[in-house]
Amino acid sequence: MIGAGPAGLMLAHLLTRAGIETVMIERHSRSYVENRIRAGILEHEVAALLRETGVGARMDEVGFRHDGTNILFDGVLHRLDFASLGKHVMLYSQHEVVRDLIAARLVAGGEILFEAEVTAIENFNGSEPRVCFTHHGETRELDCEIIAACDGFHGIGRASLPANLVREYDREYPFGWLGILAEAPPSLDELIYANHDRGFALLSMRSSSVSRLYLQCPLDTDLAEWPDSRIWDELSIRLAHPGFSLNTGAIFQKNITPMRSYVAEPMQSGRLFLAGDAAHIVPPTGAKGLNAAVADAVILARAIIAQFLDDNPETLRCYTETCLARIWKIERFSWLMTSLLHRFDNHSAFDRRIQRAELDYYVNTPTGGTALIENYVGLPIGAVP
Ligand code: APR
Ligand code: PHB
Repeated sequence: MIGAGPAGLMLAHLLTRAGIETVMIERHSRSYVENRIRAGILEHEVAALLRETGVGARMDEVGFRHDGTNILFDGVLHRLDFASLGKHVMLYSQHEVVRDLIAARLVAGGEILFEAEVTAIENFNGSEPRVCFTHHGETRELDCEIIAACDGFHGIGRASLPANLVREYDREYPFGWLGILAEAPPSLDELIYANHDRGFALLSMRSSSVSRLYLQCPLDTDLAEWPDSRIWDELSIRLAHPGFSLNTGAIFQKNITPMRSYVAEPMQSGRLFLAGDAAHIVPPTGAKGLNAAVADAVILARAIIAQFLDDNPETLRCYTETCLARIWKIERFSWLMTSLLHRFDNHSAFDRRIQRAELDYYVNTPTGGTALIENYVGLPIGAVP
């Protein structure tokens, strides 16, 4: 495994459980990966997977179970009821999942080579695949049966695939999200995704005393022009609806996230396999990044186990096809949520009316509501390997 993010850690966790030996190489330090702040919604089946494989205890203890979410437009709040499909999601930060998976690996006697960087991936189309890496100033080599590039969007895995093999699909959105973490109790016990004439806003949370909020902003936004008071004023306007008041507090983190959709095909060549952000990214609007990475890890673990323990190479051969059938639906959903909820400066009055009609369809008809909920709580991943 190259990379100890959610994809690499989950893959190693599942293979270890099946008795398959793994080596993990991670460029950053343990404390860096354990404190990297990212999104925090776990799909129904991802949460179930953590529980079923023995790494869900802390999630159930300190995470929050959400049985619904809210969409706000034209000043009216619409609740999507996950329980209507017998589902829920868990609000639990990605870095907490990473901490739990690292702890489980160490308890199982496994190792992670932190501050070790893969510099080359060789011979993955031959019989002796190898990764070259540096660790503590030394150059080392590792012979592998399978190389899993779980090394994120800028990793060496995708870059090592033959250029004439790879096709890239890409969309950059003409705005970003200004995100804050604040010492403020959540203003509601569920999320609010708000479509407002001034732009999108999202109310989320991290704990009973910390709120996570976002504002759509221009890509060239200078954080220096956004003092705390301006951020709170803007959030209050965009999230306003009858009976709601926004809890404010000290802001202790501000950042800007660009918005992009990207898929590389195929996700494999010879014995090299890509998983997670290494192969695809989504804009954060549906909180799918972590969930998609974990689903790839499950599909890859199943295929590696089938090959090495059941002598069935077919599943591994079909890895790309199996993942992409799911990934493109996640891409579609993240694009849909982004399209429905943001302000697009190039929209005509006609486009804006269409956006409203679509929102109305998704939140106010049984078919539309079910379609939104089933994607939000997560499409099936299949059996736990
Ligand atoms: N050698 C060793 N490690 C590497 C190398 C390299 N050459 N290149 C990258 N890495 C490591 C990075 O330091 C990082 O810790 O690979 C890891 C990739 O982890 P993530 O970026 O978290 O990617 P992934 O596991 O696919 O998880 C996707 O993370 O980016 C978020 O929103 C995204 O939630 C999604 C999730
Ligand atoms: C978050 O809490 O960071 C979060 C929640 C939902 C999203 C995106 C981000 O869709």
